[in-house]
This record gives sequence, structure tokens and C-alpha cells, in this order.
Amino acid sequence: MERTCLAVILAAGDSTRMKSSKSKVLHPVAGRPMIAHVVEAVASAGISSVALVVGRDAEDVAKAASIAGVGIESYLQKERLGTGHAVLAAREAIAKGYDDILVTYGDVPLQTDGPLKAARQGLADGSDVVVIGFHTDRPTGYGRLLVKDGELIAIREEKDATDAERTVTWCNSGLMAINGRKALDLLSRIGNANAKGEFYLTDLVEIARSLGGRVTAVDAPEIEMTGCNNRAELAVIEHFWQERRRHQMMLSGVTMIAPETVFLAYDTVIGQDALIEPNVVFGPGAVIDSGAVIHAFSHIEGAHVSESATVGPFARLRPGADLGTGSKVGNFCEVKNGRLGEGAKVNHLTYIGDAVIGAGSNIGAGTITCNYDGVNKSETVIGENAFIGSNSSLVAPVTIGDGAYIASGSVITVNVPADALALGRARQENKPGRATLLRERALAIKAAKKAKA
Ligand code: UD1
Ligand code: CA
Repeated sequence: MERTCLAVILAAGDSTRMKSSKSKVLHPVAGRPMIAHVVEAVASAGISSVALVVGRDAEDVAKAASIAGVGIESYLQKERLGTGHAVLAAREAIAKGYDDILVTYGDVPLQTDGPLKAARQGLADGSDVVVIGFHTDRPTGYGRLLVKDGELIAIREEKDATDAERTVTWCNSGLMAINGRKALDLLSRIGNANAKGEFYLTDLVEIARSLGGRVTAVDAPEIEMTGCNNRAELAVIEHFWQERRRHQMMLSGVTMIAPETVFLAYDTVIGQDALIEPNVVFGPGAVIDSGAVIHAFSHIEGAHVSESATVGPFARLRPGADLGTGSKVGNFCEVKNGRLGEGAKVNHLTYIGDAVIGAGSNIGAGTITCNYDGVNKSETVIGENAFIGSNSSLVAPVTIGDGAYIASGSVITVNVPADALALGRARQENKPGRATLLRERALAIKAAKKAKA
């Protein structure tokens, strides 16, 4: 029989040190709120439901935490009286009766299911409390794991620790698993007789032991347990997140020439044999298929790039950009809500917005789809194998038929039938000898000015 599990996520902090108008767990890592990363990690540890303990910005935090397929209930901790008190805010959920209770923090977004699963395994093996610890060279501020005769006997908070205890480098991550059948009894025994006058969740170690229960610890990598208290730590977390995900992507077959300059979003998907050149930034919603090439300095968000298509250098793909197989979007081009058919080319200095471009069409340099009249957006439809001459303005709504040819410099306001040539510009006139006259007049003016001076 599989064990049931409730994850209690503590997210009721004031976030004072973030110096922010919103709770720290709402701040994004890789383009989505920190709290959503935590929910995803606990979800992959096989939990049955989530109790979210909220305080500040309760509604926004609950909303940011909701990810598909995970049942979450929020519990308001009205006063912040400590981590032990915070867990008890979810008393109602705990009372429903689970085999395992996993306690985790909403501001530790790099955590993964590994240590959480190991802690649950500890419960399955008979522990009443399993602490997730980590080793660090910089233990200041953390609770220390105190060991005697090979057994974890207590967690001592920095403020309550002796000098000798402060030299300990095995620390409490704050994450913990508790026997679900005993949790309410254990938690209700926590008092607040300590340096901070708070109800410390960490007291569970001594409480469980005093009742004859078994207490153990499992280790997590220090990086995964990095908490976020201020914006400098937020940047460190982002850095580690990016490093980890880039590494995973490269191992899955993506080539990155200078990985440290590539920025991914939480949901970026890149296929095998895609090549990502330096200084590329992915916002949320980017899907890059196998064999695509993203040249340097491109920015891609909410866009799909099909197999063997190429993007950039210096291209911007905005939401709704959909590049067909083997198509090309070159330097200084922007595509928004625009579909390029197979092999279509948009090579230089062009804006494609709210447009459909058929397979094999070629869009000349400097072409603009004029999709916005200041109030409404309209669509440009270009057929297959059309040729749009350089510096054309296509004033939407407008349709250009298959195989049509637009003379460069045209302003196109009327639909163009298939295979037609459209000239939307003034006819050229040549005036023989007129340049000479102009030049002579200019020189005469200059000479007159000089004589006056
Ligand atoms: C806590 C641990 C410490 C551990 C450290 C790891 C206790 C007593 N101490 O210390 O051993 O090394 O985390 O970072 O548990 N929270 C609430 N409501 C509260 C109090 C806290 O929701 O009333 C939340 C906070 O938002 C935060 C987490 O719980 O996400 C930890 O609280 P914090 O006050 O930062 O605990 P520390 O003193 O850092
Ligand atoms: Ca903390």
C-alpha cells in the first residue's frame, strides 16, 4: 500500500528583508513565482495534498502556488509565532490523517524531490521525525544538528546555542518529515521558552525522543537548501537554477557554446541537436524543436521554432510566433503572433505582427506589417512563394496571394491577387542634366556667403 502524504508549505513570512511590496515567495525564479517551484518539488515527491500556510498577500500567494494537478488548501497564520506555530495553522489538514507529513518552506525554491523522498523513506523505516540537514562552511544563522553517540539528539537555534555548538557545520534546512499519525500530538507539545520566544518546529527532535520515538536525519545538497531572504540571495538562487537546468539540457542533447550566457525559463523546451549560441534569453513558453539554431543575442518568449529553423542573431520572437520547418528569421527582426510556413524567410530588419506567411515566401529587408491603427489590431495574410520587396509597408487587414510580387518601397493597402505584381509607390521620373544645375546653384550660394564674411 502506498503511504499518504500531506505537504505543509510555510509561506507566511513578512519578507521584510526583500524590501518589496509583495511577499518574497511571489518573486520569480526562472520566470515563475518561487512558491510554484516548491509546489512542483513536493508534487514530485508523491504527496497526496498540499496545505499552504499563508500570511502576507495570502490570496496572491495561493494563486501563484496553484499548478495543474495538485490539490492545495490555504491556511492563514494570523500571527507569526514561529515555525512550530505555523505548521499548526494547518491543523485541520493534518487532522485528516496522513501517513506522512512533509514540512517545507516556500522560500527554498531549489529543493527537489530527492531529499523529500529520502525523508519520507525514513518515516516508512520507522522514524517519527526525519530532519533534512545539510553541510556548509557558513553555518551562521542556521539551527545546528547536535549528535550524540551517532544519534541526532537536538536542533539548536543559533541564538540559543553555546559557542561550542556554534562550531557545528551540520545544519537544519528547516525541511522535515513527521509521522502523520503522531504529528498533532508532537506539535502540540512545542513551547516557546527560548531566546526568541517563538514556537520552534525544531523542538520536535527532543520531544519525539523524550516520548521514545526514533529521530533521524537525511542530507540534502547545500545548494538545494538555499533560502531566499533578500534580493542578493534571489540572484544567487536564479544563478544556481539556471546552471542546473542548462546542465540538464546539455546532457539531453542541446549544444550551448557559452552556456553561462544563456538564460532559460522554467518551462523552456529545447530539442536534441538544437544549437544555442551565446547570449540568448528565453522567456516563458518557448519551444525549440530539434536541429533549430538560435544565433547570438536573440530573445524568445511564448514562441515555437520548428525543426531546422534558424533565428537571429539579434532576433526577437514574442508570444504567438510560430516558425515552420526550415524557416528563417534573421537579424533585427521581430515576430509577434505570426506564423511562418515551411522555408519562409524574414531575413533583415522586419516587423511581423498578427500575420500568416505561407511556405517559401520571402520577406524583404525593412518590411513592416502595419497591424495596429491605434485602436484595433488587424491581420496580414501572405500566401505561398510570395515575394515582398524591401521596405514595404503592408497595411492590415490585407491579403497577398500566392506567388504575388510586391515592388520594394510599396505601401500596400489593397489585397493583391495571386501572381500579381503590386506597385504601391510613386513612379520614378528622370530629369536629364538637372543634377548639374542643382550642384551649380549650391556652389554659388556657398561662394556668396564666403564673400560676405
Ligand atoms: C529556521 C529553523 C532553523 C533552520 C532555518 C533554515 C526553526 C525554529 N528554525 O530558522 O533551524 O536552520 O529555518 O532556513 O524552525 N514561517 C512562517 N510562520 C512563522 C515563522 C516562520 O510561515 O511564524 C516561515 C517563514 O516564512 C520561512 C520559514 O517559515 O519561510 C522559516 O522561518 P524563519 O523565521 O526564517 O526561520 P529561521 O529563523 O531562519
Ligand atoms: Ca530563514
